Amino acid sequence: MSAVIPIFDVEYEQPRESSGTVCDTKFAWARVPVEPSQEQRAALKDKIRRLLKERNAVMVSHYYVHPDLQDLAEETGGIVSDSLEMARFGRDHPAQTLVVSGVKFMGETSKILSPEKRVLMPDLDATCSLDLGCPIDEFSAFCDQHPDRTVVVYANTSAAVKARSDWLVTSSCALDIVRALKEAGHKVLWAPDKHLGSYIQRETGADMVFWNGACIVHDEFKAFELEALKKQYPKAKVLVHPESPADVVALADAVGSTSGILKSAQEMDAKEFIVATDNGMMHKLRTLNPGKVFIEAPTAGNSATCKSCAHCPWMAMNGLAGLAHVLETGANEIHVDPSLGLRARLPIDRMLAFTAALKAGQAAGSLVPNIGAA
Ligand code: 13P
Ligand code: SF4
Repeated sequence: MSAVIPIFDVEYEQPRESSGTVCDTKFAWARVPVEPSQEQRAALKDKIRRLLKERNAVMVSHYYVHPDLQDLAEETGGIVSDSLEMARFGRDHPAQTLVVSGVKFMGETSKILSPEKRVLMPDLDATCSLDLGCPIDEFSAFCDQHPDRTVVVYANTSAAVKARSDWLVTSSCALDIVRALKEAGHKVLWAPDKHLGSYIQRETGADMVFWNGACIVHDEFKAFELEALKKQYPKAKVLVHPESPADVVALADAVGSTSGILKSAQEMDAKEFIVATDNGMMHKLRTLNPGKVFIEAPTAGNSATCKSCAHCPWMAMNGLAGLAHVLETGANEIHVDPSLGLRARLPIDRMLAFTAALKAGQAAGSLVPNIGAA
């Protein structure tokens, strides 16, 4: 059973253009599960707890999915995290089945890292505008035009695009990796998120060329309206995910991945925060910071194409009923061609080794091959 949920008072009537990407999100909104009643929720949660044990399975959830899927993951020994930690946790956990609540690239990354495990997702059609906007044939041709560049791709891509890359990054490690590449003399081909890419370029000064992709959620945040909101809340700190446009990032007190935003909210000495990322993030921000106030950054205004768009329609497709169903039946299993998976694993392993070594105190410069000054 599916229906359009009333989070938004304006539904997308047209396929929306997001940079080079045309995304018909109406399909995704139509597949968002109906909110279950209290009794149904309790029964579904009990069933999921039981099935997780019976199937030797663990939940791996992203911060943007429904609060029920975040809380249940933590309560049952799984994880709710950013995309980097989801990948690492899934790889290292002994469970033989991973139930990934998020979008398809997250399930695929888990499968690539753990080909021997079964990876299930509540809805296999949950995708991402960045992944949709970077088809492998066109991307491969773009890479062929720049043979002198090191290919760095964002995690929000297909297995085939990952397999064509040298390095994978997520928003929590992209700065460190590109900075190290620059210092080792690399020129970078970056894909697919142009906003994240231009943020990295501004911060590192690296020589980069960009694919023209964007996240349909973060692309909607509006600097003009954010400035007006800041005037309403003059003491508020602004936390921004770097998939947002440059003029929004310029207004930030802290820029970071989803886990970076959470960390900043916990560490910053402020009571009010304006948050420019998917509003699924509010659940964790509020439960971990009960004394603080979190306000959604504006997506509306003169240039807006929708009202309050700050929620990913594909993340919203994940629900308790879908999760219980896949655990019960084994449906919605992620498959990645084994030889493609082997190739796609190289850049992912590089990223995980880089971040682990950095955490252990190794110098970033020693973690990438030096090709001399460009
Ligand atoms: P994080 O890696 O920051 O969790 O971001 C994933 C994502 O899809 C953001 O839109
Ligand atoms: Fe992709 Fe944006 Fe959704 Fe993240 S929020 S999964 S980047 S469309």
